[in-house]
Amino acid sequence: MLAELRECEPVFWHAGMGSWALTRYADSVRVLRDHETFARDPRRTGGTVPEPSLSVQTLDPPQQNAVRSLFMTALRAQDLTGVEDRARLLVRERLDQLAGGGPFDVVAEIAVPLSVAVVADLLGVEPPPYGEFAAVSDAIMRSMDGGLDPALVEPGRVARQQLSDLVDSWFAASARPGLLARVRQATAPDADALTRLYVKNTARVMFQGGYSTMAAAIGNAVHTLLTHPGEFGRMRDRELLATGVDELVRFDGPVQGTTRTAVRSCRIGGVDIAPGQKVVPLFAAANRDPAAFPGADELVLDRSPNRHLGYGWGPHSCIGTTVAQAGLRALVTAINDHPARPAAAGDGVRRRTATMRAFDTLPATLLV
Ligand code: HEM
Repeated sequence: MLAELRECEPVFWHAGMGSWALTRYADSVRVLRDHETFARDPRRTGGTVPEPSLSVQTLDPPQQNAVRSLFMTALRAQDLTGVEDRARLLVRERLDQLAGGGPFDVVAEIAVPLSVAVVADLLGVEPPPYGEFAAVSDAIMRSMDGGLDPALVEPGRVARQQLSDLVDSWFAASARPGLLARVRQATAPDADALTRLYVKNTARVMFQGGYSTMAAAIGNAVHTLLTHPGEFGRMRDRELLATGVDELVRFDGPVQGTTRTAVRSCRIGGVDIAPGQKVVPLFAAANRDPAAFPGADELVLDRSPNRHLGYGWGPHSCIGTTVAQAGLRALVTAINDHPARPAAAGDGVRRRTATMRAFDTLPATLLV
C-alpha cells in the first residue's frame, strides 16, 4: 500500500488523519530537518499542550535545546557496555528456562522483560513488575492513535498520570547510579518550575517511549530473523551484528511515522501545504523508498550507508538510539550463543495500531 502511494500520490491527503501523508524519503527528511517551517510544538500553531505532555518530545528548538542536551549528555555518561552485558545475561537466562519446553510467546517472555530491564538499568531504577507496566504502557501506546480514534485518548491520559506518579517516586527515592541520578540535579527545589516539569516529563518519555519502542522492535526483529533462515547465524560476525541491528529497524521498524504542523505556506512534491495543516512523514514508507535504498524490500544485513528514519531525524530524532542498538545486539548475541536453535511456531498476531507496528504475540520454540 505504501509503495503504491509512493508511486502514484507521494504527498497524499488522508482524510481520516486530516493530514498530508508523505511516503518519499526525501520529502520526509526535508520536513523533519526544517523545524522552523514544520512545528512539533502545537502551541506554535495556536494549539495547547497539557502540562504532563511538555517534554523534549513536544518542545521545539530553541526551547527544547537545554532539556535535550541535558538528557543526551547524561546518556553519554552511562556505561552502555555494562547495560548490554547485563541484557545479554538476562536473555541467556530466559533462553535457558525456555529451551526444549515447547512453544512460547517471544513478546511476553523476551521482548517485554528485556525492554523493561534495559530502560530501568539505564535510568538506574528498580524495574517495575513487567505485566503491570506493560498494561500502562500499552494504553499510552494506543493513545498515539487518538487522532484516528478519540476513544483512546482518555485511557492514555490516565495511564500517563499513573506513570508520572511512578517517575515522581523515582525522583524522590532512587539512589542508584544511572541516568536519573545525572538529571536529578536539574530538578532541585531551587531550579525553576518549568525546567523541573520538562525534566520529569522527559524522564517519563525515556522510560515509557524507550520501553514500548524497544519491545516492539524486538518482536519485529525476531520475526524478521525467523522468517529469513540463516540470517540469525550470520550475525555472529561482529561487523554484521553492528550493521544488521540497524537494518532490522529499517526493514521492519516499530515507529511508522510522526506528525508536524506547517507554520507557513510551503510546497512539498508539487503540493501546496497551507499554514496549520498537518504533515505525516511515514518512516515505514521512507525506509523502503528505492530512491534512497537500493533493494529496499530486501533485508541486507551489511547495508551501508543506511541512514534510515527508523530512529527519526533532526531535532526530535531518537535520544535512545545507542541504547536500542545495545539491546538489539544483546538479544541477537544471546540467541546465537545459546545451544538451542530458535524456530517459528506459528503466525504472530500483529497489534492493530497505526503509529506503532508491533506484535501482540509471536510464537516461537527453542529446539535442543
Ligand atoms: C529500537 C528501539 C527504538 C526505536 C525504533 C525508536 C524510535 C524513535 C523515533 C522514530 C523517534 C522520533 C519520533 C518523532 O520524530 O516523532 C524517537 C524519539 C525518542 N526516543 Fe526512541 N526509539 C527506540 C528506543 C528508544 C530508547 C531505548 C529510548 C530511551 C531509553 C528512547 C528515547 C527516545 C526519546 C526521549 C525520544 C524523543 C526525542 C525528541 O523528541 O527530542 N528511544 N525514537
